[in-house]
Amino acid sequence: MHGGVLYRVVIAFMLTVTVSGSWLGTSRGAPAGKLEIFSWWTAGGEADALKALFDTYHKRYPAVQIVNATVAGGAGTNAKAVLKTRMLGGDAPDSFQVHAGHELIDTWVRSGYMAPLTDLFRSEGWTKVMPPGLIEILSYKGDIWSVPVNIHRANILWYNKKILSDAHLMPPTTFDEFFKVAGALKTKGVVPFALGDKEGWEAGHAFETVLIGTLGADGYRGLWTGKTAWTSSKVTAALETFKKMLSYTNTDHAALTWDGAGEYLAGGKGAMMIMGDWANGWFTSKNVKDYGWVPAPGNANVYDALSDSFGLPKKARDRDNVMAWLRALGSREGQEAFNPLKGSICARTDCSASLFSPYQQWTMTHWKTDAIVPSVIHGAAASEGWATGYKDAIALFVTSRDTAGTQKALQKACADAGMCK
Ligand code: GAL
Repeated sequence: MHGGVLYRVVIAFMLTVTVSGSWLGTSRGAPAGKLEIFSWWTAGGEADALKALFDTYHKRYPAVQIVNATVAGGAGTNAKAVLKTRMLGGDAPDSFQVHAGHELIDTWVRSGYMAPLTDLFRSEGWTKVMPPGLIEILSYKGDIWSVPVNIHRANILWYNKKILSDAHLMPPTTFDEFFKVAGALKTKGVVPFALGDKEGWEAGHAFETVLIGTLGADGYRGLWTGKTAWTSSKVTAALETFKKMLSYTNTDHAALTWDGAGEYLAGGKGAMMIMGDWANGWFTSKNVKDYGWVPAPGNANVYDALSDSFGLPKKARDRDNVMAWLRALGSREGQEAFNPLKGSICARTDCSASLFSPYQQWTMTHWKTDAIVPSVIHGAAASEGWATGYKDAIALFVTSRDTAGTQKALQKACADAGMCK
């Protein structure tokens, strides 16, 4: 979409959240005025969680009017382009959603668009209640640059419990089991593997879990650090496996978004789907109860992680209000309000587990024990240009099914990023 068109889209999506406190007046010294928060959280679960965060903020600062600037599109497909136009044009939102890791550091920090938040982390005691590994990927040149609100897990296979139990099948944990289950279900008139890849990132999302399942945690990590060759036979094998998986999808996949694929499971028409745990928030918001989860095939004890965070653009108009926003979303209260609805777990380590769903309690344990690897589709593993090259290669693979050509394109994306020869 053209930048100008996208800009109009964001305006159309802007909702002014009730100014709950404006008629109550402003307590002396408390922030007032506006706060524009930019994100892509519009789907079920996502929007509810964002509202819970706004409510936390309003409780503390009732006089501030929050402008909810959202641009729909999973994984920020449309939002990131709008954000770029705005930031480069000197029209920064007060604070925006950005993934911890390369997306934050390479796109916005190195280029000098953000203000450091190290003092805030110190004064709020966050360096003690957030994992060092997370702080590390928010850091650059000795400073910390954004506040994480959650940890999401990307490598989950969600399934419809009734479909599997009616067919006397267990949820698959390996690729062999996946193909046995998928093969058995194909004859029963349900979609074995639900996919919605309308926005171009969803196949790349599923494929990163296939890479993990084929190369293991170290092998997958090495793809992003130059230690594992994209030309390796294991990458070929991963593409072949994914090609076979694609033969079990719904025929309308190109017309559906990730939550559209979720409807297959929710409506009892699809058996399995690979998606991040915002799907858990979505199921909850839709009151879908009959779903189960396992790590994606071959992904046991590997946590494919990403974190949503917010920072302070140097050009933010309402700086005090942003600082108050960052304090609210880094607080235990804010994270305990947001995450149970979002499907994710807290970035803080001191949230009360009892507030969370069984899925989240399960994943909280794994966060402590699993090998953690960075998601590429969700900004943690690679700089934006490389991640986009990867994403586009896999999106094309869905239609071309050309293993050799796709492997070449993946290698080229790595070379273009200066990480492969
Ligand atoms: C991810 C984001 C999640 C969720 C998902 C689908 O990139 O980190 O919070 O919103 O996209 O939109």
